[in-house]
Parts: sequence; structure tokens; C-alpha cells
Amino acid sequence: MAKAAQFASKLGLIAATVGSAVGLGNIWRFPAEAQANGGAAFVIIYIICVFLLGIPVMLAEFSIGRAGRSDAVGAFKNLGAGKGWWAVGALAILASYLILWFYMVVAGWTFEYLMQSITGALYEPIAGITDEDSLFSAKMHTYIQTAAGPLVNTFIVLALNLVILLFGVQKGIERMSTILMPLLFVLLAVFCVVSLTLPGAADGVAFFLHPDFSKITPAVVLNALGQSFFSLSLGMGILITYASYFPADTKLPRTAMTVSVLDLLVAIMMGLIIFPAVTTFGLENHTLEGAALVFITLPEVFTRMPGTQLWSILFFLLLLVAALTSTLSIAEVSVKFVQDRFKMRRAAACAIVLCPLFLTSGVTALSQGPLSHITICGMTIFDFLDFVATDIFLPLGSIFLCVYMGWFAPAGLLTGQLDNSNGGKPRLISRIIALNVRYVAPVLIALVFITNLL
Ligand code: PHE
Repeated sequence: MAKAAQFASKLGLIAATVGSAVGLGNIWRFPAEAQANGGAAFVIIYIICVFLLGIPVMLAEFSIGRAGRSDAVGAFKNLGAGKGWWAVGALAILASYLILWFYMVVAGWTFEYLMQSITGALYEPIAGITDEDSLFSAKMHTYIQTAAGPLVNTFIVLALNLVILLFGVQKGIERMSTILMPLLFVLLAVFCVVSLTLPGAADGVAFFLHPDFSKITPAVVLNALGQSFFSLSLGMGILITYASYFPADTKLPRTAMTVSVLDLLVAIMMGLIIFPAVTTFGLENHTLEGAALVFITLPEVFTRMPGTQLWSILFFLLLLVAALTSTLSIAEVSVKFVQDRFKMRRAAACAIVLCPLFLTSGVTALSQGPLSHITICGMTIFDFLDFVATDIFLPLGSIFLCVYMGWFAPAGLLTGQLDNSNGGKPRLISRIIALNVRYVAPVLIALVFITNLL
């Protein structure tokens, strides 16, 4: 049997894990959500969610992965978890696979916008449309509603993922992340400098962060929690899979801290990039939500800046990098599963996981256009997948994970992994984390989950 795959360097390990965490969630979801839901008040709640719940759940996942040394199902089996606990891993794999169906499509949009920025097509006028909001909105909707564009772009990112994954953990995922993540941080820094030196920067920061505690309702807390878990890639087996590639001497608490802080930093930096630009050009009343923020409002910002095309290229490159390193991590969950469970070669596993996606993501790519008449529970296929995976599977997966770790895992597994020791008295901080995973995290996440369903 081939030697088990491992990340080769500390930097590579962090780059890959941060690459998974930093994605579209940080770039277009966090800034818009924070701005709309109380600014700094939201950010504080979000930070509490990350530290109180996100990091402990991340550590539980890391520990299962590194101790179990296998895919998300195999790890539970290797740990001797009886009574069908492996199903928790299976649920996570299923959730992650469903996410791929739509995340590949969105990654395809970012590729399209990068290409249109390079060719300049994005900034060409459409006859009869004079104001820019309608122009970019028309462009986005025309694109989403056609068949060929979304389909081709989804296939291109899929093929890109396939090629990188075929190179393996070290030469594919790790090497790509080690190149792309520093690039992403450089781009972010450049945008921060540019944006924060715009004349309206102070107004923008105030617009983004002005604290409004009256907006903090249970629904908003729920939002913050869901957003933080999505952003940290929790509950989907990703961190179990990646941690199975961590060397035995990796310090898990420090790794979790680094990943979470960098993820948070990127999210906040995005807000500090977007809103100063928006206020400087007086676009506060334009769509600031989700995909429309980056595909409609930001191109409007770029048209008002000298060097429109350059900024546009750099921004959509940043977006593509963020999306690509996330899709790699999501796909790896299933690749590792097929590889380990069915004792297959990596190439075969990659093919088995990614080829069906050409069909399923292809269908999703068309679900806002030619196939928009197909709805499930009143939602398009795209929205339904997003809902099921992120609002149901992700929190459920995290709850089960904590319950397993806190109540059923071999005694001392978590603290041993946190301390890199086999036995002996755990450190105080590790005991606190273990108590959190046993009593606090599962209860709070369950509360939030149930409130959400009511
Ligand atoms: N964490 C990524 C983001 O913020 C998305 C993601 C979700 C990645 C789930 C992997 C798994 O966009």
C-alpha cells in the first residue's frame, strides 16, 4: 500500500486549510451580512461564535481526523466508534458533495467575470441601457439565465479541480495553496490600501461598522453562527480529511487559532475594501447583498476608478482563487473517501468523484436559467441545495460531532490530540475545550438549529 499522504510543510498545511476556509463566504456573504445586521455589533457576535463554538468544533474535527488517519467515515471506524457513528462521517460527506453541486457553479461565475474583465467585455455598453446599475444587473442576469456560459464555465472549473486533485495532496492541493494563498493576501492588502485611501473611506468604515445593537435579534445571532461555521468549513468532513494529512507533531490548537484568525481577518478586510469604495462613489443604495454585491455593485465601483480594467481583473482573480481553494477542499473529502473505503488509486477516485459532477453541477448551472421552472419546496435546485447543505446538514453534522467527541469517543482522545500526548494530565486549556465540546457547543448549536426550524 502507498505511504499515507501528508502535508509536507507547516506553511503548506496552513495555506491549504486557510484556503478551504477563505471562500465566497468571506468575500460576499460576511461584509453584506455584517453591514445589514448591526455593523460592529454583528462583528462582535460573530467573533464570539468563532471563539466560543467554531474553534472547539474545529478542534474536535482535527482530532478525529488526525487520530483516525482516514477519510471522514474511516476515521470514525478507526477510532473504534461503535453503533453506527460512522454515519456522522457519511452525513458530512453527503453534505460536502451536495455543496459541490452548487459551489462549482458559483466558482464558474467568478471565472466568467475574470475572463470578461480581461477581454473588457464586462465594461462594454448594451444598446438602450444608460444607467450602470441596470447595465451590470442586466449583464449578470443575462449570464445566469443563459445555458452555454454557466455550463461551460462550470465545466472549466471542474476540469481545473480535477487536474489539481490528480496531482495528489502534496503536489496538487498543497502546492497550489502555497502559491495561491500568498497571492490572495497580497491582493487583499493592495485593495485595502487603495480603498482606505479613497476620499470617502471614513464614511465607508462607519457605514460598515457603525454598531447598532438594536438589530441583534435571535435570528441575527443564528445568522452569525451559521455564517461562522460555513466560513470555517465546519461540519462537512473537510477538516477531518485535511487533519488526516497533518503530521503527528502539528500543534492543533495553534493551527485552529491561526486558521480562524486569518479567516476572520479576510472577512473583515473585505468589508473594509468594499464599503469605502461604495460610499466614496455614492452607491450605498445599490444592491449590497450577496452575489449582486460583487457582480453588479463592484463593477460599478471599478468604472468610476482610474484603471477600471486592472482593478476588475485583480478583484475577480482574488475571487477565483478564493473559490478554487475551497472547491479543492470540498472535493477532497469525497476523493479521500472513495480512495480509502474502496481501496482505489487516487486517479480512479478523482474520476469517480468529479465525473458525475459534470452532470449534477451542470444541471445546477442551468437551474437559474433554462431549468428555473424546476423547483423543490418552492426553491430552485440551486437554492434548495444551498439550503439543505448549509442550513440542515452543516449544523446537524457539527452537533453529532460534538456529541461523539464529548460523550462517546475513547477517553482522553481530544485532550491527548490537543496536547500531542498519550496520557498524563491534560493542560487546563485542553480540559476547558473538552468541557466545551461536551456540554456547551452541542447544546448551543442545537438551540440555534431548532430555533431556526421553528
Ligand atoms: N468556507 C468557505 C467559504 O467561506 C466555503 C466552504 C464551505 C468551503 C464549505 C468548504 C466547505 O466560502
